[in-house]
Amino acid sequence: MLRRSFLAGLCLAASVGLAPALAQDTVRIGLILPMTGASSTTGKQAEAAIRLFMQQNGTTVAGKKIELILKDDTGVADTTKRIAQELIVNDKVNVLMGFGLTPLALAVAPLATQAKVPQIVTAAATAIITEQSPFIVRTSFTLPQATVPMAEWAAKNGVKKVVTLVTDYGPGIDAEKAFVERFAKDGGTVVESLRVPLRNPDFSPFLQRVRDASPDAVFVFVPSGFGSTFMKQFAERGLDKAGIRLLATGDVTDDDQLNEMGDTALGVINTHHYSAAHPSPENKAFVEAFRKANNGMRPNFMAVGAYDGINLVYKALEKTKGNTDGTALVDAMKGMSWTSVRGPVTIDPETRDIIQDIYIRKVEKVNGELWNVEFAKIEQVKDPVKAAKKP
Ligand code: DHB
Repeated sequence: MLRRSFLAGLCLAASVGLAPALAQDTVRIGLILPMTGASSTTGKQAEAAIRLFMQQNGTTVAGKKIELILKDDTGVADTTKRIAQELIVNDKVNVLMGFGLTPLALAVAPLATQAKVPQIVTAAATAIITEQSPFIVRTSFTLPQATVPMAEWAAKNGVKKVVTLVTDYGPGIDAEKAFVERFAKDGGTVVESLRVPLRNPDFSPFLQRVRDASPDAVFVFVPSGFGSTFMKQFAERGLDKAGIRLLATGDVTDDDQLNEMGDTALGVINTHHYSAAHPSPENKAFVEAFRKANNGMRPNFMAVGAYDGINLVYKALEKTKGNTDGTALVDAMKGMSWTSVRGPVTIDPETRDIIQDIYIRKVEKVNGELWNVEFAKIEQVKDPVKAAKKP
């Protein structure tokens, strides 16, 4: 009886052209990003990349309409959590995506587990994140993944004494630990490890301590959006003139800000998974389309994490033939490989982290602009922290 009147209602609505899109014909993606606040460049880059992907690939996958719901969490974890709850309960999203900082990703992990909604982490990069929910799949990177090759390069290239300087939270501590352990294993010495607060960082007093320790090099991690402030203070403190070499993860020589950094950045060796200068045909086409759609803005690694994140959701939906069950989607993502604009990638079926090439790069001026020019790569690197835990 109930079913019949429901169907009758539907027919009536359809016949007068009022039928709403049936919920099951739409896949809703809740995209949570810091669009304002200190990490707003992450939000801006990620949103631009996702919109570009949808423009290039359409908004229908396996017969389903993709609907994107973008929310600004301002980079505050309590807000991320509240927004995720609303997206799950009220908007009935099928997928959650984004997460610009580690605490924001961690705040949502229990909700993803409880609601069985895939949580695609396109930015945050502390190693432990994927272990916090079986519904988390990550398309960014981990700090140990990017850092170990930096420590290896340093030890092989005559650097003996290092001070580490990192932002004092998850990814910074991961970077510090990975550098200290690998560099010591390879015969180097870390004489001091400094941690700078995440909020309103003033690097100057820390840089003075680096100067006083007079190491061969300082190894640095700061999150995306803080690199140009760091580089300015590095020059102001005269560290570039004091013969202390700067080694970094590519978060510091971030493509979003690299051109503003000036000559202080020239020659800086750093390691990361994506450079806008990556010389593949896929990346050349991506950078050109991204710049065209965004007033000349250069894509950074946050854009690429998001571009691959939405690609992964599309591919998973194709594989499940439009089935939006959370477990089915995550299962479809496990082991998936594709040619990213960063190079070849695979979702590790065991950890749900991304396996990718890590590049050693040097900041160079090419045609009047600063670029991270890749000169070596370590192929298909897994997150080393989880790899070490395996029996
Ligand atoms: C994180 C944020 C960043 O901007 C970055 O470059 C690396 C890691 C994070 O909070 O996990």
